[in-house]
Amino acid sequence: MEVRVISMKEIESLGISVVEVMEVVEKGFRLKGEGKVELPAKIGIHPRHDCFIHAMPCFVGGEVDAAGIKWVSGYPINQGKGLPYISGVMCVNDPETGFVKAIMDASWITAWRTGAATGVCARYMADPDSETIAVVGLGVQGRTNTVALAKALPNIKVIRAYDVYESQAAKYKETIRKDLPEFEIILCGSVEEAVKGADVVVTCTPIVANPNRFVKSEWLKEDCLAIAVDYDSAFKAEIMVKANAFVCDDKNQYLWTQKQGVYFQKGYPTESEILGDMGDLCAGKIKAPRKGRRGAVLMGIASHDIMTANLILEKAQEKGIGKIVEI
Ligand SMILES: NC(=O)c1ccc[n+]([C@@H]2O[C@H](COP(=O)([O-])OP(=O)(O)OC[C@H]3O[C@@H](n4cnc5c(N)ncnc54)[C@H](O)[C@@H]3O)[C@@H](O)[C@H]2O)c1
Repeated sequence: MEVRVISMKEIESLGISVVEVMEVVEKGFRLKGEGKVELPAKIGIHPRHDCFIHAMPCFVGGEVDAAGIKWVSGYPINQGKGLPYISGVMCVNDPETGFVKAIMDASWITAWRTGAATGVCARYMADPDSETIAVVGLGVQGRTNTVALAKALPNIKVIRAYDVYESQAAKYKETIRKDLPEFEIILCGSVEEAVKGADVVVTCTPIVANPNRFVKSEWLKEDCLAIAVDYDSAFKAEIMVKANAFVCDDKNQYLWTQKQGVYFQKGYPTESEILGDMGDLCAGKIKAPRKGRRGAVLMGIASHDIMTANLILEKAQEKGIGKIVEI
């Protein structure tokens, strides 16, 4: 087997924009909504407290025809070691033969496809006149979610941001200034200060088994879209359960996760309280309101990974990037 191995640096050298990633992530959602995606709920192991290593296989059919699996870890304890929270590899298969075609870094993919999914969600659920976003948790996801939201919503002017660590907040501001030079970035002294008055709030803090859920409903304005990329770690359950529309990225994954008895317990929406998932929205099967309280839980699904990996592989093949290894 000849396998193309692509490093993170090589992926970065391809210069893929978040707008391009949003396009493929949205297409993946649409195909999922049309029933053309095979996407089992992710399974995982937990070698340390609050740490996971997940296996995320997926086949996207229809006009895409791409298959693969991501093997990805999330270790909150890595922050103390100066190491990234997320690491992993992505394996792309040839759907015709099953052969592995490529192995590539999964950190870049995870970072940008997750931000992109938030951007796509905002395109379908945010008030298009939204001017202010709030971001809580200013690590890798804080950055990519900010950039994607700014690209998805044309009227955004102000970014309000909060992290428990001032050093993280300062690093974030420096990076976002380069990514989005035209935006006002306000670093806030508390979560409450950050989220007050925001049109869209996204939380990107570590996922934990016993969350504090520290974002209170009364801090959010009524017309607000609350997006969690950190499961149920940050938003109080009532924000999601009393929303006039609650959407997740994949209903099957959400309900399966809830059944495991760890996440989305204690008041988070049950099956009858879910309007639908992003697949339904992107395939035009449901419509979400653009005003009032809206909630979304985006757990991250494998269709984003294979769609993004496919985009990377196409560009890498075109430009002769990566190392061909015989296995
Ligand atoms: N849904 C998805 O598809 C998806 C994909 C990747 C990562 N994630 C999740 O996103 C979260 C962030 O991942 P990351 O790679 O950005 O991690 P990261 O370690 O780079 O960033 C996390 C940030 O949150 C901050 N933080 C911790 N507790 C906080 C609190 N109470 N209030 C405010 N800030 C706080 C940390 O200081 C850090 O800056 C994790 O929960 C991760 O599992 C979700």
